[in-house]
Amino acid sequence: MMRSHRAGSLRASDDGSEVTLCGWVDSRRDHGGVVFLDLRDVEGIVQVVVDPSRAGCEQAHRVRGEWVLRVVGTVKRRPEGTVNPEIGTGEIEVAASGLEVLNESEPVPFPLDEHAGEVDEGTRLRYRYLDLRRPAMQLNLLLRSRVNSSLRDSMSRQGFTEVETPMLIASTPEGARDFVVPSRLSPGSFYALPQSPQLFKQLLMVGGVDRYFQLARCLRDEDLRADRQFEFVQYDAEMSFAGADDVMEVVGTAVADAVEAATGERPGAFPRMTWHQAQERYGTDKPDVRFGMELVDLGPVFASTGFRAFQAEAVKGIRVVGEGAASRSRLDALTDRAKGLGAAGLVWMRVGEGGALESPVAKFLSDDERRDVVSAMAAEPGDLLLMVAGERRVANHVLGVLRLDLGRPPVSEGGLRFLWVVDFPLFEGLADDGSPVPAHHPFTMPHPDDLALLDAEGVDLLGVRSQAYDLVLNGWELGSGSVRIHRRDVQERIFTLLGIAPETARERFGFLLDAFRFGAPPHAGFAFGVDRLVAILAGEENIREVIAFPKTQSGADPLTGAPGPLDPAQLRELGLAVAVPQEATTRPDPER
Ligand code: AMO
Repeated sequence: MMRSHRAGSLRASDDGSEVTLCGWVDSRRDHGGVVFLDLRDVEGIVQVVVDPSRAGCEQAHRVRGEWVLRVVGTVKRRPEGTVNPEIGTGEIEVAASGLEVLNESEPVPFPLDEHAGEVDEGTRLRYRYLDLRRPAMQLNLLLRSRVNSSLRDSMSRQGFTEVETPMLIASTPEGARDFVVPSRLSPGSFYALPQSPQLFKQLLMVGGVDRYFQLARCLRDEDLRADRQFEFVQYDAEMSFAGADDVMEVVGTAVADAVEAATGERPGAFPRMTWHQAQERYGTDKPDVRFGMELVDLGPVFASTGFRAFQAEAVKGIRVVGEGAASRSRLDALTDRAKGLGAAGLVWMRVGEGGALESPVAKFLSDDERRDVVSAMAAEPGDLLLMVAGERRVANHVLGVLRLDLGRPPVSEGGLRFLWVVDFPLFEGLADDGSPVPAHHPFTMPHPDDLALLDAEGVDLLGVRSQAYDLVLNGWELGSGSVRIHRRDVQERIFTLLGIAPETARERFGFLLDAFRFGAPPHAGFAFGVDRLVAILAGEENIREVIAFPKTQSGADPLTGAPGPLDPAQLRELGLAVAVPQEATTRPDPER
């Protein structure tokens, strides 16, 4: 054994123990006499006191930050007045009797202290192996590992079988672009990397697996954001002979188990809200219910208004507590934001003493309207009221975004507020050719009460509900799932509605339609983003902080230099020719 203990694990109860420790020099203070070294390993930091005049300790003057040491010594209580309550080992120090340099280090390109988070992202990722040495990153990886193993345990306990699905597949439609892999054996043909294991898990149900799960790696070529990477991990599950309630029960249990393993506290039951309620109250399908500021329907207040702008399908408002003193330039900026989001305008009102309203539109409102709006919004003196009139969908969306802009707490505050959003519509809009776009994916079962509507003449397809449900945490979409179509005729009907011609459907999804011919059981499932769950549990705003080797915003890996050009021999072997001249090949900016 190279070491007897982990440096960061030593406590006052180890007083008097002889220990051998290995780790990195976090910092050193050399006062000419004894040398103080902070030795860091995966468990934390311990102070080592070295007397370089002692035999075996001569190297102490030479060592520098991030050198790798092996230290032999005795644990001692720190002298009175030198206890450091900030660290776990703060009551003790190690008096060294021997010090061996296992490896030296060049000066590191950025400090590995608490300010490393402020270092530019490109540099951190270029030297990710150094960045990972920081205690905050170690904790994030540990948390992730705990969440993963707890999910595995929970699913096994609940009777699920872990099955790995392939990475080289035909395309799975999840709404993003595919990453593709050229085939050497079939030049000119390509595999797609899975956007999700969706179709395979459904085939597993036809295959009698009954209850499947996987911590599945998924790949999507989409614009990267704080909650999106090209590669991510889904906790993916599917159940036969089960409906939405069964899936929500299983997933809720697994998530609660993971949260308990990570934080020590078990969350209560997750409340449910319909998609329609979520839109009306929060202007989004993923409400952040950590704070109020709910959208208020002002339709009744302005039902017979003489004010033109409010004679609209919907008039809705939000109350911004205590912001009545907002400057004109701030209000102009909010108005621009609202217009940028699609509103015709933004009406603002400052609430004064006795409910008096100061607003450019106040003069167009009746006394009753002015009084009723204050009471409908439960406004108090000093508040700011913001209103949008127009199409209901637009008013909800615009105010939903303003609500987040003005009220959303940081990720690390406000606790964990889980929420199931149920009764999603089957379609979320119409494509340019008029065909509906699935709100979830094309394998989602319509709501049983709305199934007949699909064949009716003149029905507004956007009003058809599905059996899809999302799990939302603090305003992030954590995951989604649905009851699946398991009948060939219904699946073909949906493909036709989506504007997918029968021959195209056969070509792309023939294997699924075939499988449905042979006794496919009713089934339902779900998948959620493990990266997102861990980021929120770690109090991180960006999922990159919980991924060991993520990509930058521009999709680059500054550490390995990916993506890069292929050499001509590889291209020849794959039967590929690059249309862009090699010298013009664009690499993503590794600093972004
Ligand atoms: P969906 O496309 O909603 O559903 O994905 C499920 C969850 O995966 C996570 N996720 C991502 N995380 C990080 N980076 C990304 N680029 C990214 N894209 C998605 C999100 C999301 O909620 N097959 C269906 C699930 C099902 O019906 O069972 C699916 O993939 O947390």
